[in-house]
Amino acid sequence: MFERSVVVGDEPIPYFYGFGCADDLVNALAAEFKNADAGLLIADRAVAKFAEDIVDRLAEYMTMHVYFLDAEERNKTLGAVQSVIDFAVDRRLTRESFFLAMGGGLTGNIAGLAASLIYRGVRFAHLPTTSVAAFDSVLSLKQAVNLPRGKNLCGCYARPTAIACDLEWLTTGPRSGLVNGLAEMVKNVLIATPEHETLLLRSLGRLGEEAAPDALLSLMRIGIDTKEPLLRADPKERKEALIFEYGHTAGHTVEFVSNGVIRHGEAVAWGMLVAAEVSRSLGYMDEAEVAHHREIVSHLGLPDPRSRLGGLDFARLRQVLAADNKRGYVQCAPDEVPMVLLKGVAEPVLAASGHPLVAVPLDTVMTALSTVAAP
Ligand SMILES: NC(=O)c1ccc[n+]([C@@H]2O[C@H](COP(=O)([O-])OP(=O)(O)OC[C@H]3O[C@@H](n4cnc5c(N)ncnc54)[C@H](O)[C@@H]3O)[C@@H](O)[C@H]2O)c1
Repeated sequence: MFERSVVVGDEPIPYFYGFGCADDLVNALAAEFKNADAGLLIADRAVAKFAEDIVDRLAEYMTMHVYFLDAEERNKTLGAVQSVIDFAVDRRLTRESFFLAMGGGLTGNIAGLAASLIYRGVRFAHLPTTSVAAFDSVLSLKQAVNLPRGKNLCGCYARPTAIACDLEWLTTGPRSGLVNGLAEMVKNVLIATPEHETLLLRSLGRLGEEAAPDALLSLMRIGIDTKEPLLRADPKERKEALIFEYGHTAGHTVEFVSNGVIRHGEAVAWGMLVAAEVSRSLGYMDEAEVAHHREIVSHLGLPDPRSRLGGLDFARLRQVLAADNKRGYVQCAPDEVPMVLLKGVAEPVLAASGHPLVAVPLDTVMTALSTVAAP
């Protein structure tokens, strides 16, 4: 097992990870929460086998409960958060108890939000089981759920006590699940660490081979190395770290309107292509960089964007786009939306305030979406 201390703001968060290291992770978690009176593992039902194993082992150290949820984007609601809290209160968990969030980014967000609301906050740890979660979302303090009007509209910041990941957990789903998360890493490399592009693409290519454990360990290092410097400086992702929202404006919109059928990572991949088209149409990005975007995204082996986006309700896309949750950082008219745009790799377009955001007319984004989805 490896341990990395990931500094977010002023404080480090220990990240324990490895391949086939569940025993060591349990010991590390038992040590982190040794003074707790009980623990609640909130787990995605898809990883019930791993969750039960962790709970059984932790039960040797302390009282443990387990709550399963169905990780579907339409269930990422305040109601889901309340169900977790009701369950914990019914089991008499106290302020000295802790939560563990085991699953993908969705489970992490629901459990992270529940942990910060119950009794005004209990300690929690992330146990990520998808690549989106392991390499990206658990490194962010942002927790949010969806409201009927849009994605991630209701949430807070919550700092985990620790993160623990057995990379073997990531290998149980279809390859598409793994690739999904790597879209976030493609994004991170495009916005901040182009020097990692070659290693990222090599690791991506090796995921189906026996070398997968090594490839996953490399991806973990790239994920942490890319996110940490920005999160150290801007832990709430309200200034320079807003750049992580690259590809998320159109991405969140298609994820939400497709009811999660287009999963987060895939949605971000299409969102980056849309952002590149917008940037070109506004004169910031040249054709060569737009082609580079298409090329790097093609390594993810995703389906044709036309087959995925063409059938979506464009009127609804426009409505959801208009409710994007980045509003307020820069001045934006009602018919504009704030977007992260690049001129080239690691070269964001900056507003006068220093935010990496540009107010873009909704019409321009919808035209770019149509271009990416064009038959
Ligand atoms: N807080 C942040 O900064 C942040 C960053 C990125 C994404 N997110 C959020 O995370 C969510 C997306 O996360 P995700 O892509 O991990 O998806 P997810 O959590 O929705 O999981 C996707 C699917 O994979 C299944 N699954 C989970 N682990 C599995 C495993 N090991 N084997 C097989 N199946 C497994 C789930 O049951 C689900 O069906 C979105 O809601 C997004 O908004 C948040």
